[in-house]
Amino acid sequence: MAKLWGGRFKQKTDRMVEQLGESVSFDARLAPWDIRASIAHARMLGACGIVSKRESQSIVQGLEAIARAAATGKIRWKRELEDIHTNIEAELVRRIGDAGKKLHTARSRNDQIATDLRLWARDQMTAILNRLHDLQTALADFAEEHLEVILPGFTHLQHAQPVLLAHHILAYVEMSQRDEERFSQLRTRANVLPLGSAALAGTPHPIDRAMVAKELGFDSVSANSMDAVSDRDYLIEFCANAALAMMHLSRLCEELILWSSQEFGFIEIGDAFTTGSSIMPQKKNPDVAELVRGKTGRVYGDLMALLTLMKGLPLTYNRDLQEDKERVFDASDTLQLCLAVFTRMIPAIRVNREILQIALRKGFMEATDLADYLAAKGMPFRAAHELVGNIVVYCIQNKRDLISLTLNELQRYSPLFAADVHHALAPKTMVGRRDHPGGTSPKQVKLALQKVRRRLGHSAY
Ligand code: ARG
Repeated sequence: MAKLWGGRFKQKTDRMVEQLGESVSFDARLAPWDIRASIAHARMLGACGIVSKRESQSIVQGLEAIARAAATGKIRWKRELEDIHTNIEAELVRRIGDAGKKLHTARSRNDQIATDLRLWARDQMTAILNRLHDLQTALADFAEEHLEVILPGFTHLQHAQPVLLAHHILAYVEMSQRDEERFSQLRTRANVLPLGSAALAGTPHPIDRAMVAKELGFDSVSANSMDAVSDRDYLIEFCANAALAMMHLSRLCEELILWSSQEFGFIEIGDAFTTGSSIMPQKKNPDVAELVRGKTGRVYGDLMALLTLMKGLPLTYNRDLQEDKERVFDASDTLQLCLAVFTRMIPAIRVNREILQIALRKGFMEATDLADYLAAKGMPFRAAHELVGNIVVYCIQNKRDLISLTLNELQRYSPLFAADVHHALAPKTMVGRRDHPGGTSPKQVKLALQKVRRRLGHSAY
């Protein structure tokens, strides 16, 4: 098969070089975007008189037919033609003849791939934004269904203070909202048309870049042709955003794994999202959460690969850039799959309220409130802290918990303790008293949930 760039060459490309250099085995998935960009380019060539109207029309029809055939898997892409761009062009020439050879006027594969990737990335970001939205909805639903549930809040993975389960879950909604913002901002920032930059310097043909930008839905045209053909910043940002979103999922995965262990027992994950062991009949393993946690590492790898790929690349296009695709495809596919499966898993989580009741009594989580109780009655907080520390030691030595101490026992430590102390130490009271924006009181959490619902109701992608 003749190479599109074969004119200057006398000898055949080495067989191994073809194996090294081909990209159609992975960039074939760009075909729909490549064709879309080519159609816009061909229309512009016709409108600007660079090719005749008839030629332009015939190219557009040929490309549309290729798009249909490709979508149903009817075209076999050829590795010896290197990449998807040359494959499509060769197929076009095969179908419509000489007019097809004019498509590549006023463009290069350098601005072509730069355009394809931006179109592809824009669509992927829209899909990711929708999935982040679905995730937040599932988390908000879960929070709402468990509004009355209190669980131990941790610092250092030690019992710290009780919090509403809904508050804990809404923390992840906040993270996910930031992920959403990042992708949404990137989608806007990256929506710039590189086509027209040609190989690196622009083209002498009288092109109309604004027309192409408009047809392809780009907000503007690139300001510098050299930057445009060699810029992959937005793909690095894409991977960084994906890495952050995966990191957030992974943190929740870690909690679900811990919470479903025998040691915690806070939750049980439904059968559809767990797996058994080939040898231990009793096992029910949280594989989905583990896999998502594990795949976070590979998305970090994608980000590092792109950063490393770009450092030290001189302007402008270098073939190294071909290595960007598999990494960013992987980051996108992995994130989208993980978001989708994770979102489906959330409604399958059953909360074990009885075990949570028991857990709330462990770890002296009333200690801060006990100190605050004394502080509210005039004792300096530092002194109250010290005094409650002593009470905790007493409890440990006598195998007691704070809530079980009688008023008499407490008054041995301070006369400030009064009959209202036990009420102050009930988990419900402790949670209810953190009643300011951002706090865990049921009132505040309900308000936060309403805000989340309002936002989710408004934003659509
Ligand atoms: N397959 C190439 C890539 O992915 C397309 C651009 C090729 N340009 C070139 N001058 N060889 O980057």
